[in-house]
Amino acid sequence: MRGHDHRVDALAHALLGARRVLAITGAGLSADSGLPTYRGIGGLYEGGETDEGMPVEAALSGEVFARNPEITWRYLAALGRAGSSARPNAGHRALAAIEADGREVCVLTQNVDGLHRAAGSRWVLEIHGRMDALLCTACSHREAPVDYSALQVPPRCPACGAVLRPPVVLFGEMLPDEAIAELRAALKVGFDLVLSIGTSSLFPYIVEPLRLAAAEGVPTAEINPDQTPVSTLVDYRIPSPAAEVLPEVHRRADAAQRD
Ligand code: OAD
Repeated sequence: MRGHDHRVDALAHALLGARRVLAITGAGLSADSGLPTYRGIGGLYEGGETDEGMPVEAALSGEVFARNPEITWRYLAALGRAGSSARPNAGHRALAAIEADGREVCVLTQNVDGLHRAAGSRWVLEIHGRMDALLCTACSHREAPVDYSALQVPPRCPACGAVLRPPVVLFGEMLPDEAIAELRAALKVGFDLVLSIGTSSLFPYIVEPLRLAAAEGVPTAEINPDQTPVSTLVDYRIPSPAAEVLPEVHRRADAAQRD
């Protein structure tokens, strides 16, 4: 954190006074748990095209899933296998600890790996769904837990034979109604600190809460080694890995509280 130590201090100070925190998270937070990000070096989309000659983003779309579920499933299974051995890192744990201190912490995550819940965060809006169950695309059959390494892809429903899928949001699909409604209600009440952590901030519903906070003079911060569309909006930009920054911010806020 050398070089931006004062910003870590400033963010710790903002956290100290905050009772309601919104933490917007993306794949970069789970990168420190060994999971691939979607974009950038080593990202899932970096390889370009699939064996079928289509971009990975297209393979992970609702349209391709409906036509060729075996193509989509190859990538879902890879994501599921990577996720099943991943554990929460110090960044996930710091967010849970910031909540355990007595604050309301809403985690708005695009991650489908369940690591926020595993770390102990209690208010998690999984806006892109989750991977820890399979649902039948035709009947009400549901199975959990899922062993992604043992799956025949595409997996089929034992009751009706239709294809199964996890309740994740594929490209071109709707966001889960419940999570969106909860986010709207939470934004109406408002937050007194908004953090953007490890996300390339490409989607409007990820950028808007931060833009709103900035316009209202609510303190905002970004923790991401790279620049993103929200980098110029935030009060504190800390270009270091989230698993280093978040525990340090929490530690300094805690220390200041005890002084
Ligand atoms: P991306 O892969 O687009 O972006 C990851 C971000 O994390 C980048 O801005 C990196 O600079 C940053 N990053 C990398 N390592 C980091 C670290 N150690 N600490 C902090 N930041 C780090 O991932 P998302 O923004 O989550 O959607 O992608 C959003 C959505 O795009 C995904 O949920 C997925 C994808 O398409 C769906 O599948 C619907």
